[in-house]
Amino acid sequence: MSDENKSSSVPSAGEPVATRSAAPMWIIVTTLVLLFIGGIYFDRHSGWFNPKVYAPYTSAENLEGFQPQSGAAAALARGKKTYEAVCGICHGPDGLGKPGQAPPLAGSEWVVAKGFNRLAHIPLMGLAGNIKVAGKDWSMNMAAMGAALPDDDLAAVLTYIRSAWGNQASAVEGDDIKKIRSGMGGGSQPMTHDMLMAMPE
Ligand code: HEC
Repeated sequence: MSDENKSSSVPSAGEPVATRSAAPMWIIVTTLVLLFIGGIYFDRHSGWFNPKVYAPYTSAENLEGFQPQSGAAAALARGKKTYEAVCGICHGPDGLGKPGQAPPLAGSEWVVAKGFNRLAHIPLMGLAGNIKVAGKDWSMNMAAMGAALPDDDLAAVLTYIRSAWGNQASAVEGDDIKKIRSGMGGGSQPMTHDMLMAMPE
């Protein structure tokens, strides 16, 4: 090695020198304050990566379930659900019934009658024997499929079948069913066409 190289590795006075020095206090404090504010913001707005926040609805139907519903819409939705679970097996989700199984509720004069007294007696007491529905004769039996339902639920079912599938008739309230139920007496005989016609519509 030459003398020239040796001497250049020794810094001479006046040249810049890298030394360690502590970061200025204001940078540390500012950084901490920003992290703190960021933490609060994240806490308030992030939803903590909850999938319900980032991908809340899996389908339009799923979204529908979260919409606030007014009393009437809620009763209809409940009526539809109960109908499909309790009555739909025979009368069909489309209310059209099935030959040899059950008559239609869509377009049935029993369902859309002005009053619902006779209608309510059918699920409450059952129905037996000859009955004409939308111009066709039926002669089967239906058990008291609605007798075990609470007043509000049966009212919701009747409201639903009176307004679904093109049917247009007034809503039924839980109190109406309560009154009809208490006026039935203790009889457990299923309704017949003649018994229905003998009572107010
Ligand atoms: C197990 C099958 C079955 C179930 C479940 C059933 N029904 Fe029926 N329903 C029938 C049959 C069968 C008839 C016809 C009875 C006859 O011929 O006398 C009928 C008749 C009716 C009628 C009168 C005729 C008409 O079509 O308008 C109404 C109203 C009715 N059902 C409503 C209901 C309601 C409301 C429910 C649920 C709470 C229900 N049914 C559940 C079988 C069923």
